Amino acid sequence: MQAQRLIATAQALMAGDRGLLAMDESTGTCNKRFAELGIALTEEARRAYRDMIVTTPHLGDAISGAILYDETIRQKTLRGLPFARALEDAGIIPGIKVDAGAKALAAHPGELVTEGLDGLRERLADYATMGARFAKWRAVITIGGATPSRGCIEANAHALARYAGLCQEAGLVPIVEPEVLMDGDHPLERCAAVTQAVLLAVFNQLDTQQVMLEGMLLKPNMVLPGAACTEQSTVDDVADATVQCFSRAVPAAVPGIAFLSGGQAAGLASARLNAMNVRFKSRLPWALSFSFARAIQQPALAAWRGVAANVPAAQQALFHRADCNRAARRGEYDAQADAPRQA
Ligand code: 13P
Repeated sequence: MQAQRLIATAQALMAGDRGLLAMDESTGTCNKRFAELGIALTEEARRAYRDMIVTTPHLGDAISGAILYDETIRQKTLRGLPFARALEDAGIIPGIKVDAGAKALAAHPGELVTEGLDGLRERLADYATMGARFAKWRAVITIGGATPSRGCIEANAHALARYAGLCQEAGLVPIVEPEVLMDGDHPLERCAAVTQAVLLAVFNQLDTQQVMLEGMLLKPNMVLPGAACTEQSTVDDVADATVQCFSRAVPAAVPGIAFLSGGQAAGLASARLNAMNVRFKSRLPWALSFSFARAIQQPALAAWRGVAANVPAAQQALFHRADCNRAARRGEYDAQADAPRQA
């Protein structure tokens, strides 16, 4: 029964052309983004911002699931509905970020390991009673001269698999997020090699921990050249390298891959997802979707700026980006038509 429920939730998150909205910034990350725009760093400002997102008209037409943060899942809309309930009412499945953040990995300078396994079984049970039906855990892999190390990859892969097992036990679909960062001047090929090695380690650990692949989702980075690399690839080259990498490392039993945006410009993230679906959709075993935070939210946050009168403009900007990514799932995103809004 539990297995059927997990599979049904994973499939519902990937169905059709809708995708995921990550709105699970920790208080620190949210405050950092607010500070850049001069928005008050208060609990009420964070609540008001998430209220603006969740009450965006027709958001459920483009978004199948939204990932909340601990503070947010305990908050309510102005009309008094818990956010998880407001999402359900909008036809959006509520999820929850459950990791406790990436911390320095001992004996591995410059590398991180994600913490949060202690007490996770109890926290998952709590979140399930608050309405969460899926969860997210992000591991961070840094490309540098001598990194990532085997120790970093394996520690993170092990933690992701332990987390995923606990989620499935609790009836929540785990979103497994190993993020290879864009930071650095490495070429596309290096990102491809690192991403493949990370994915192989993650799926090895998922198998060891007996995670049911049909009842989970993968949330990876796209295969990209480093942000400071002098040779930036075309959209089609990114699509080809990304699909080749995932074809080699992701079992066909996984129902879907929902990419993170990782700091890419919003329009570029849409264009790259679009190119993957245009070129490969009919031949792939898994759905290719999105689970963006910045590439959906950033224009809306800039339009909102903490001012109630800006809510309609911010909601329009949010819906527009969600709808662009929905088009990208169908392979129908029109980058040229979208360009003026990106300028
Ligand atoms: P970005 O799309 O901004 O990379 O965020 C996705 C996410 O959820 C990171 O954990």
